[in-house]
Amino acid sequence: MIEVQNGVFHLRESGWSYLFRATERGLLEHLHFGAPVSIQDAPALAVKPGMGWGMAVTPDEADGALCPDTLPLEWSGAGRGDYRESSMEVWDGDVPLPAEFRYADYQIFEGTARLQSGLPQAGGGLQTLAVTLRDGALPLTLTLYYTDFGGVLTRRAALKNESHRTLTVRKCMSWCVDLVGEYQLTTFDGGWIGEARRHVTPVEAARVVNESTTGFSSNRHNPGFLLAGKGAGEDCGDVYGFNLVYSGNHYASAQRSFQGLTRVMQGVSPALFCAVLAPGGTFETPEGVLAYSGAGFNGLSAAMHGFVNGHIIPPAWRYRPRPVLFNDWEGCMFDFDQRRLLELAGRAKKQGAELFVLDDGWFGARNSDRAGLGDYGVNEKKLPEGLGGFAGKLAGLGLNFGLWFEPEAVNPDSGLYRAHPDWAIHQPGRSDLLSRHELLLDLRKEAVRDYIVDSVTEVLNSADIRYVKWDMNRQSVLTGAAAHEYILGLYDVLRRIFAPRPDILLESCSSGGNRFDLGMLCFSPQIWCSDNTDPMERLQIQGGLSYLYPQSCMGAHVSAAPHAQTLRATPLSTRGNVSFFGALGYELDLKALRPVEAREIKAQIAFYKAHRDTFQFGAFSRLPAPEGWTGWQVRSERETLAGFFRGLVPAAPGIVKLRVSGLDNNRRYRVRARPQTLRVGDFGNLVKYLSPVRVNPDGPLLRAADGLYALPDGREDFTATGAALMAGFAPAALFTGTGYDKNSHNQGDFGSEIYVISEERGHD
Ligand code: GLA
Repeated sequence: MIEVQNGVFHLRESGWSYLFRATERGLLEHLHFGAPVSIQDAPALAVKPGMGWGMAVTPDEADGALCPDTLPLEWSGAGRGDYRESSMEVWDGDVPLPAEFRYADYQIFEGTARLQSGLPQAGGGLQTLAVTLRDGALPLTLTLYYTDFGGVLTRRAALKNESHRTLTVRKCMSWCVDLVGEYQLTTFDGGWIGEARRHVTPVEAARVVNESTTGFSSNRHNPGFLLAGKGAGEDCGDVYGFNLVYSGNHYASAQRSFQGLTRVMQGVSPALFCAVLAPGGTFETPEGVLAYSGAGFNGLSAAMHGFVNGHIIPPAWRYRPRPVLFNDWEGCMFDFDQRRLLELAGRAKKQGAELFVLDDGWFGARNSDRAGLGDYGVNEKKLPEGLGGFAGKLAGLGLNFGLWFEPEAVNPDSGLYRAHPDWAIHQPGRSDLLSRHELLLDLRKEAVRDYIVDSVTEVLNSADIRYVKWDMNRQSVLTGAAAHEYILGLYDVLRRIFAPRPDILLESCSSGGNRFDLGMLCFSPQIWCSDNTDPMERLQIQGGLSYLYPQSCMGAHVSAAPHAQTLRATPLSTRGNVSFFGALGYELDLKALRPVEAREIKAQIAFYKAHRDTFQFGAFSRLPAPEGWTGWQVRSERETLAGFFRGLVPAAPGIVKLRVSGLDNNRRYRVRARPQTLRVGDFGNLVKYLSPVRVNPDGPLLRAADGLYALPDGREDFTATGAALMAGFAPAALFTGTGYDKNSHNQGDFGSEIYVISEERGHD
């Protein structure tokens, strides 16, 4: 709900309030972002400047106490007495212009104010407040948009040049706000196969910046970040979350002033940025997302998850179950033909997969990553019946068909490049900067966008394709406004291809999570989190992303062990258990599996399908877990699923209690550990304790048994009240040496369990 009274503006929902006012001099003074309050509280919430601070700079000495430098603001000027970081920079030729925007008027309308520039934006906003400000000396109009989405609000800015001169915008943030208090900044940083690692930095006097300049939102610094008040934890305290509906270079900063105001802002990165603002032209920023929770990080994540699932994901896929997929990449790489694929597909189907994804290598001369990118004609040596024929065969098996593309890039060794070398991005007078043997196509050019739309459309029309993996495997060489225009070009292409095909499930990917952002999620309901599928690493990657993004949008696959990037051998059960907390897939050579492993995968998929709604759309929380463990939970009306993941197992493990959350204290629940199994071979020499007869642990008998038989592990089935489960229940013992007991958890290092917790009917 949005209300306005005597120059005070109030966005109010059940969990938060956002309050600001226009001061007498027309500055927008920020009053409060936090727990719900009343609009009448404005005077009580306003900062009292008293006699003002020494050295105040003000256009009105009589009003010196209200100097812009010490006022909490909603937007800042330049060169007009606010010496903190400015949220904008406008130049006239090579002269930077001072700016001081003052309140002019406002408008409230139902729903969302549509962006005109082709940037994607969240759908289904409740109400929008547009506050117009004008500069006293320059013919510039600034409109700040605030949209109430219930769980969160969004902000964006539009700057209109009302003069007859061409100006340039070097910086224009989507939003800026000054919060009173001390905060810790959490960012999600990394690189290829190490995305979304959580880092915490105190916000103090020196400015801290979260920025990408690679041309894309990047795996280096996710655009989403958090600010937490002192003492905030997963389930308590004040936490703010911020994000940007944008896939290009982004920038956010936080800095605490001497007076204790923390200025935070976010928008397109100003690095080398310079956009032309023609007379009458408007520069629109991407939409920024602002969320508050008084219930800690988990509360904040819940607000962000609800927003992404309900307002960012394309309408046709909102809360629509994601299929269990099999992807041929890690199992086959470029080495496949139709026979091999169909053999894998047959196995995938038997194990319960619903969608078969044919990854890289199906077109042109694409037999390695050195050639063929850009030529989307099917390789008939590999697929003699074409894509249509192959899709038909899959349909015969009962599988849907999904296909990989990397339409934004081109190999110099390709027909496309030979025909149109100028379509790739080059830097005049300089050598090309190649990456994975590819260059980016210049999506700023209409001809290039048309080519991509036409070539991808032709393929999509040639077969019954239900899923597309849209990959992009390099960084850009474009900077500033050129990089921004590229991103606008990308959105144009995605809109033209997929808007008419809302039922195609688009999964975007950029060497894993190099473009895991809200802009891409406006088109693709899921994103491949990382090329790293080691479950221990995924706990960090998916765990990091979980602060801002819901499980439904995280592509999470089970791959082979030992893992290709870490050489770590992890139990198949754990590889499954971690991937369950995402959009589940399998990406390994199914033919190389032992029969016991194939059976286990079948059981995993059946389990996941039976609980898919809860896994994909249930309320997610990070649980308090014993030292060295990770706990995740998802909760729906029907059930609670809690996963506990261990690292290295010590000898003589201590006693631990596991805590879940969100249950009803007085109700009684049944708790069952998901049935898991152990490989006989995992016991090595210890097998002598399991077998009534003497066997050689390296002998053919045991090798055969290892492939065929599995031992039950960690059987747990008990009831308890919600109060007991939330206080902490004692799980079955871990392996403590030599013996085997089917009721203990014997998985050793990197073991894990999923508990299914459902209400006992007829009990109180
Ligand atoms: C990227 C993706 C992988 C796979 C390969 C194919 O690395 O992240 O998942 O699709 O490209 O070349």
